[in-house]
Amino acid sequence: MTNKFANVQTILPGPKAKELIDRRHNIVPDAVSYGVPTFVESAKGALLRDVDGNQFIDFAGAIGVINIGHCDESVVNALHDQVDKYIHTGFNVMMYDPYIEFAEKLAALAPGSFDKKVMFLNSGAEAIENAIKIAKKATNRPAVVSFTGGFHGRTLLTMSLTGKIKPYKYEFGPFAPEVYHAPYPYEYRKPASMTCDEYNAYLLEQMESFFITEVPADQVAAVIMEPVQGESGFIVPDQTFVEGVYEICKRHGILFIADEIQTGFGRTGKYFAMEHFNVEPDLITVSKSMAAGLPISGVIGRQELLDAAGGGELGGTYCGSPLGCRAGLAVLEAMEEKNINERAIHIGEQVMKRFRSFADKFDVIGDYRGLGAMCALEFVESRTTKEPAKEITADVLKEAQSRGVLPLKAGVYDNVVRLLMPLVITDEQLQEGLDVLEYAIEAVAIKHGKTVNEHA
Ligand SMILES: Cc1ncc(COP(=O)(O)O)c(C=O)c1O
Repeated sequence: MTNKFANVQTILPGPKAKELIDRRHNIVPDAVSYGVPTFVESAKGALLRDVDGNQFIDFAGAIGVINIGHCDESVVNALHDQVDKYIHTGFNVMMYDPYIEFAEKLAALAPGSFDKKVMFLNSGAEAIENAIKIAKKATNRPAVVSFTGGFHGRTLLTMSLTGKIKPYKYEFGPFAPEVYHAPYPYEYRKPASMTCDEYNAYLLEQMESFFITEVPADQVAAVIMEPVQGESGFIVPDQTFVEGVYEICKRHGILFIADEIQTGFGRTGKYFAMEHFNVEPDLITVSKSMAAGLPISGVIGRQELLDAAGGGELGGTYCGSPLGCRAGLAVLEAMEEKNINERAIHIGEQVMKRFRSFADKFDVIGDYRGLGAMCALEFVESRTTKEPAKEITADVLKEAQSRGVLPLKAGVYDNVVRLLMPLVITDEQLQEGLDVLEYAIEAVAIKHGKTVNEHA
């Protein structure tokens, strides 16, 4: 189904997409942004076709939603079956069993050797809103700590928890009260004078003094952490840092919430990325790839915490819709059947091998990093100054898109290209997509007068 993408440059948008984009600009606000200037016609596995007949290898997966692939057969069949039975009754009116079955399965898969309960919501932000409500109710404490660079959503509370100003928070204040940001490790940009161990120890010390200077520990309901920061450019924290924060939480009676919305469901080679670390989160928020594109999210956690709130205090009209639950159950089955976690590790190894060679070849690559199939390249103007190369990054994305591959932008400084391809991508599609990415980086590096080491 693929063509030799690298050799074929397409002008985007094509004529049909152009017409739709014009209509879009008349009716949809620009604040609702888009990554590639075209409109989809169909999607299957790791491939997309747009309304003008252009094909794309999907390295974005709807920003981490499509780990199991577009239109997975078992998901599609489950949805058809569900639509024929009933679409929505409201779990808070007349309940339905797919909710129960999906909750049971997630509780069994989630890390933590304790009894768990699960509730469902609609979006990632809503899952986090609810996790924080649960934490506050259970601890009777008002404050929450998140991390610099973290992203948790666009509602008032989740925007307040988010640790990046533009575009998420700028001129949207005042923010929710009692939200504090602690420093998150960013190894590539640590002080050069410190070793990694010293840096992580320093950040943990900072976290201790944070409870003296910023907010008293006995007023903090929860610390919320992404196991790998997603929007900030796939920043993988050191194990000692994650475990250190967890230990601090335990010592102060603070709940530890893992935001697995981008990292979950096989992306890092495990169902939950926190399984890479020796911690048992009290609460876990999930969404995105849990249901292959159906809008559903969840909070999984210690039974006694999810039982802290009273009847009607949590929930909502569409929360845990039957279609979302059926899709989610089909995703879990398909993940097992297709060995998705193993596949993610294989994909991650292939990508990192290519990234190493890219880094040898292109001086504009300051860092490459990843965990499982959550891999990213960080672009810099100079390896010495590490000045973020925002324009180069944007050009690489555009160049790759015009040659039929859709990677994603990320990064605190908007200078990271991250890959969130469906994990059912074939080896051939993966290598072809990476060929295009290499070609795109080369073209852009030359355009910007940067060094390309031909014999690397
Ligand atoms: C780690 C993380 N948390 C929360 C969210 C917010 O999810 P949603 O956009 O569904 O509200 C996202 C979305 O990208 C995310 O990556």
